[in-house]
Amino acid sequence: MKKILLILLVVTFSSSTFADPKMDLGLEIYNNKAQCGVCHTLQAAGSAGNIGPNLDQLKPQMPQIIAAVTNGIGVMPPWDGILTYAEIEAVAYYVFNSTNK
Ligand code: HEC
Repeated sequence: MKKILLILLVVTFSSSTFADPKMDLGLEIYNNKAQCGVCHTLQAAGSAGNIGPNLDQLKPQMPQIIAAVTNGIGVMPPWDGILTYAEIEAVAYYVFNSTNK
């Protein structure tokens, strides 16, 4: 019985340490709401689009991603007004943390 409790404790502890809701939200926006992967390659999200730059190679910084997503750049459309600022920040956070390791 003690062993089971200990295992439960360890599992609960480790999942709350590593789960990051902002990463989950960012991935959801990347794959579904904004579908960045249609145009971009990002290994962590399993996308292989090649209309825009490969994000794994570009390793963009947070302000760079936020600016590109908010205002658009080249043929990339702006998401200002489509995604909320919190969503833009979450997808930027996701891309940044998936590529800048
Ligand atoms: C319709 C295709 C398309 C979609 C969808 C798209 N992008 Fe892009 N993206 C591009 C293209 C093309 C460029 C290169 C633009 C240029 O440099 O002229 C680019 C550039 C970028 C850059 C680099 C900006 C810079 O400063 O060089 C980042 C970061 C980026 N996109 C992130 C995203 C994210 C995050 C999403 C989803 C919210 C997304 N893109 C959706 C086509 C797209």
